[in-house]
Amino acid sequence: MIEAAKADGTLDRRSSDDGGFAVYIHWPFCAARCPYCDFNTHVRHGGVDALGFAAALERELEYFAERMGDAARRPAASIFFGGGTPSLMPPQAVSQLIGAVRRLWGVTRNVEITLEANPTSVDAGRFREFSEAGVNRVSVGVQSLVDEELKFLGRRHNRADAIRAIEIAHRHFPRVSFDMIYARPGQTPDAWHGELAEALTLAGEHLSLYQLTIEPDTPFARMHQAGRFIVPDSDAARALYDVTQDLTSSAGLPAYEISNHARPGGECRHNLVYWSCGDFVGVGPGAHGRLSEAHGRTATATETMPEAWRRLVETRGHGLKIDEPLDAVEQGDEYLVMGLRLASGIDPQRYAALCGRPIDADRIAELAGDGLLAEDPDGRLRVTSDGFPVLNAVVADLAA
Ligand SMILES: C[S@@+](CC[C@H](N)C(=O)[O-])C[C@H]1O[C@@H](n2cnc3c(N)ncnc32)[C@H](O)[C@@H]1O
Ligand code: SF4
Repeated sequence: MIEAAKADGTLDRRSSDDGGFAVYIHWPFCAARCPYCDFNTHVRHGGVDALGFAAALERELEYFAERMGDAARRPAASIFFGGGTPSLMPPQAVSQLIGAVRRLWGVTRNVEITLEANPTSVDAGRFREFSEAGVNRVSVGVQSLVDEELKFLGRRHNRADAIRAIEIAHRHFPRVSFDMIYARPGQTPDAWHGELAEALTLAGEHLSLYQLTIEPDTPFARMHQAGRFIVPDSDAARALYDVTQDLTSSAGLPAYEISNHARPGGECRHNLVYWSCGDFVGVGPGAHGRLSEAHGRTATATETMPEAWRRLVETRGHGLKIDEPLDAVEQGDEYLVMGLRLASGIDPQRYAALCGRPIDADRIAELAGDGLLAEDPDGRLRVTSDGFPVLNAVVADLAA
């Protein structure tokens, strides 16, 4: 179903291809900070009042349920505990929050409940309890299967821990994914081929394979700036990307998104809600949300500092710092940015309905002529394998 947009970008009807409604719960703490990471995450050497934070998360969920009201309420198709390191959460807190979502919105029959986990023995030791709490999908931050590389990435686990954590995950959860970071300094296509081939023997239905990004204001940014290491240039990164596509496709886990690979049916439903511009509530410090409300689509984001967020929730029920309607152009841009990450691409008619104007046909023709964009027989537009390495430029061209 294509939504009909009013002039101000308001949607008359809810899209049925939006993947349903999802709830994101952010746990903003890690045991240590990895030098490449710029997620909203914090280390508290004095310990974390985990149950106090869980109570605040539940309160913020209640705020959103009340705000959405009975008319807009629909069961959650996904609950995602992201971080930070949610595998540091007491299983009791995970159970409490799953119970809160069930009570406030209900869940679909085959709800996906994901928890991001680090592969240290402490975290993996809680997998059974997380499963008993209701988690049915785990995403493990393996990053590499090579001890030296894990040291370079500043990880607190080694190769043996990673393999053990994946095995324990398979024992306790029906759905298992893990993350790897490639395009690391000095990585050759042969070395990545060997490491990824091993990862594929350990994989379940899903793998996230990210190219190392040097994020501003991280220790890696400073080290990179100081010339302490060099990341692969675009040709070398392309060779590593091609290895990734070839190996995962022949193993039956082709890319369904620029960095995500799955067996058919094993796609992460939660992320599909984001990439198809569906509705999601985001609670916890620095969490983002998107809601279709009576006046249109709203973008929400909360205070990022955990203690400040908690004080806000305890005094007024929510930690929102951003709570703004998205206009038609913003909605169209967001659909391009998110949707073109997917192998299945976007529906240009949905773009036109959201944005109030179609995508420029000349630009489509130009990008298609350059082999970066393809138009499918059903009219969908998707980025080609030559286009994905320059995705940002393709999106910018179409949005202009
Ligand atoms: C929230 S973390 C996953 C869970 C857990 N905190 C962990 O690290 O094991 C999300 C993932 O983003 C990826 N990531 C974070 N920063 C990155 C960067 N600068 N470049 C590439 N991948 C990155 C990592 O693969 C990481 O596992
Ligand atoms: S990669 Fe994971 S463990 Fe490392 S700092 Fe980021 S969120 Fe924390």
